[in-house]
Amino acid sequence: MHATAKTLRQAGIFHLTADPLPLDGRTLSFGGRSVINFGSCSYLGLETDPRLIEGAKRALSDYGTQFSTSRAYVSSAPYAELSEQLTLIAGTQALAIGSTTTLLHAAALPALIEPGDTVVFDEQVHHSVQSVLPTLAHLGARPEQLPHGRLDLVEEIAQRTPGRTVFLADGVYSMYGDALPVPELHDLLERNPRLWAYIDDAHGTGGLGRGARAGCLANARCTRARSSCWVWLRRLQARVPASCAPRRSLRIWCSRRAAR
Ligand SMILES: Cc1ncc(COP(=O)(O)O)c(C=O)c1O
Repeated sequence: MHATAKTLRQAGIFHLTADPLPLDGRTLSFGGRSVINFGSCSYLGLETDPRLIEGAKRALSDYGTQFSTSRAYVSSAPYAELSEQLTLIAGTQALAIGSTTTLLHAAALPALIEPGDTVVFDEQVHHSVQSVLPTLAHLGARPEQLPHGRLDLVEEIAQRTPGRTVFLADGVYSMYGDALPVPELHDLLERNPRLWAYIDDAHGTGGLGRGARAGCLANARCTRARSSCWVWLRRLQARVPASCAPRRSLRIWCSRRAAR
């Protein structure tokens, strides 16, 4: 990390501050020099959409800058509306909404993983997923790293370990850009009743297509798996098959069976 920071600093592209000009979402200006911003993670570019800006202004005057109460107790009304609307877009039954994907992984995984579960993770699954592993280990799960793309090893581990094996993967991997072979995963899930999967589909979700899905969940066979997500949370008496970061993406967890 320090070496990367040093290289970036030497290249003059570290900890920069953009000129205080109105932002258009595409370009930035440094010392008056305009450049195209290829570092934006706003894949849908909605932050400059006038309709959203107007909506945000209305919400600010109606609700203030924050609603500082735990959602375990009470939610502000716009959360329910947002959840309903996103549920329609995602074509699913319920959503959990968070301000970032990282926070959602931190909240969802400890609720889904049980003591004694073997948690196998692809070495390329996003860092935000991997950062929850110490917590899962602390809760009594056994994390095991897999070389990238080795679904065959997932099956081997699921068959040799007692109890549940939970596979953590990305629908489309951030660094390599390759997609999870969803039909293959689905076959694995069908063959191995103690195997479960949790998929971060940030890069497989966009603004177009059925359910705004392009990647993992666009796949018909995965849709079957997706509907089983409810099973995950049965012990919490909740039906929350998908989590959603309203900023830009949906994270869906896929699990083994259709809802029972
Ligand atoms: C696959 C994936 N998951 C999670 C994240 C983290 O997202 P957030 O910034 O919403 O926490 C990213 C960030 O780019 C990502 O690419």
